[in-house]
Amino acid sequence: MPIDLKKIETEALENIEAAESSDNLESLRVKYLGRKSEISGYLRTVKDLDADDRAEAGEEVNRIKKNLKKAFEGKSKELREKEVSEKMTKERIDISAPGKKIKEGSLHPITQALRDVRRIFNSMGFYIVEGPEAETDFYNFDALNIPKEHPSRDLMDTFWIKKEEGMDNYLLRTHTSPMQIRFMEKHNPPFRIVVPGRVFRHEATDATHEIQFYQVEGLMVDKNVSLAHLKGVLTHFLSEFFKKDVEIKFHQSHFPFTEPSVEVFMKLKGKWIEIAGAGMVHPNVFKAVKYNPPGPDDWQGFAFGIGVDRLVMIRHNIDDVRLLYGGDLRFLEQF
Ligand code: DAH
Repeated sequence: MPIDLKKIETEALENIEAAESSDNLESLRVKYLGRKSEISGYLRTVKDLDADDRAEAGEEVNRIKKNLKKAFEGKSKELREKEVSEKMTKERIDISAPGKKIKEGSLHPITQALRDVRRIFNSMGFYIVEGPEAETDFYNFDALNIPKEHPSRDLMDTFWIKKEEGMDNYLLRTHTSPMQIRFMEKHNPPFRIVVPGRVFRHEATDATHEIQFYQVEGLMVDKNVSLAHLKGVLTHFLSEFFKKDVEIKFHQSHFPFTEPSVEVFMKLKGKWIEIAGAGMVHPNVFKAVKYNPPGPDDWQGFAFGIGVDRLVMIRHNIDDVRLLYGGDLRFLEQF
């Protein structure tokens, strides 16, 4: 016999027994049973032996191979069990340790305020509706009785969208009031709605001005609606929003779409702060939506537009409106 099979077998069994890891064992398996091992090499030469020798040699090699395989399997199982248990000890989870704190996000203060707005007006029977941010000049101005020469139509004050052939004049709405028209075109009174939404003004920003901000439009149309109802609704809303009894007062003002028009002030820490524009719906607005054939019991309505950012700033003592849109986490994480 050109190689000492017995010696190889003994040596292999000793090495298998001494193997310290699965990796270690795997290289031994390649060494003794792999295609390039001495045993495999020998097996390839067996076919050249005499018939008698061939049978004997074949049997012997197979016996050894089987024996080694069994030894490999046994050792492999032993090593794997050891390795798994070592790993578990190393990575053991201490179930009594305090958990890792998951950082909780929070809603933007404007989102929080808008949710309160919806909830409070809803509780007074107002529907919540929303309108498009890109409006036509008809809805944003004309139908609201805002004359052609009104300064808010100026390029300096409004973001106009480039006009295409045959298209209406589009702009980013400067207020939520156009939704008054859109709603009244499709619904008959009596009704009450609020329209929360974003509006845009083309102006330089500073602590009290942003090019975008939020308003809540309100509109109630019914028989015998008056400024007294408006005062009641706004007082209730503000008291709920600020969670304390709020006092408000009206100042005479002017808006093209209301007559009479008022500015709404609310008293806070002894100071009066303006928070909304409002008034009784102007007859021309009703005319634009084809309400009110002349008669003794015409529809009447009040409308208002509240500045949401102002409410948020008062609520949280914020002195610069730009913080609300800056996306600075140091600011946002406080809410
Ligand atoms: N649209 C006005 C603005 O943006 C606010 C306003 C005033 C809305 C009076 C109204 C209203 O509904 O009646 O300045």
